[in-house]
Amino acid sequence: MSPTEENRKRILYGRRRGKALRKNQQHAVEEILPALRVPEDENPVDLASLFKDKAEEYWLEIGFGAGEHLAWQAKNHPNVGIIGCEPFLNGVAVLLGKLQKDGSDNVRLHNEAAELLMERLPEASLKKGFLLFADPWPKSGHQKRRFVTDENIAALARILEDDAVLRVGTDHTDYGAWILHYFLRSEDFVWEAEHPADWLNRSDDWPQTRYEAKALKEGRKSVYYRFRRTARKSNA
Ligand SMILES: C[S@@+](CC[C@H](N)C(=O)[O-])C[C@H]1O[C@@H](n2cnc3c(N)ncnc32)[C@H](O)[C@@H]1O
Repeated sequence: MSPTEENRKRILYGRRRGKALRKNQQHAVEEILPALRVPEDENPVDLASLFKDKAEEYWLEIGFGAGEHLAWQAKNHPNVGIIGCEPFLNGVAVLLGKLQKDGSDNVRLHNEAAELLMERLPEASLKKGFLLFADPWPKSGHQKRRFVTDENIAALARILEDDAVLRVGTDHTDYGAWILHYFLRSEDFVWEAEHPADWLNRSDDWPQTRYEAKALKEGRKSVYYRFRRTARKSNA
């Protein structure tokens, strides 16, 4: 087994495929996705050429699901190059439809676990990150599968610029506490909140995702954290 295959097996616990893709989705996956993929063999990834020198800054969304939030950000920030990571192919197919409909050409895709991309992104290359409603893995035996770990926080800290903002949302009370516990003990991030409203309310530039809407319908309220990358210590 190649190291990459080994990594894939180790990292990914969720589904890669669901029900059969509709004809237009299958077409989008075959015809559009290849041109939008982040090259798998590039290390470090050349972001300028990936976005054809058109983007003024770069953002990353991890686990975009069906892509409501990512498509909205891409449409509303056409000068930003956004990379979306989502191993679930059906979600990628839905997003491709949205991008086509909106005419957005500023998104690139990594149809794999985010960990496999983060290690190839250049240091301090991203201005914003989004981790929205990552799988909460509620059973105590499954908590080690959670995305928020010291390792992934360190990986995010490496690729985010000084002062960059990482938005993290969850509807799961225990995971919400877990996320704070891990980020507050990292020297690389500060939690931006001053008042409860800062994390209990979603701002206008943070559109609702499908998962959040479902949680709300089922009576679960969400939290919306903003963590700021602290400035790197200079070696001088
Ligand atoms: C609970 S869903 C939330 C989806 C979306 N953000 C939303 O709010 O509707 C979590 C998503 O994270 C994806 N995911 C799981 N592990 C991941 C990983 N290691 N890297 C990137 N995405 C991952 C899953 O495939 C799933 O689509």
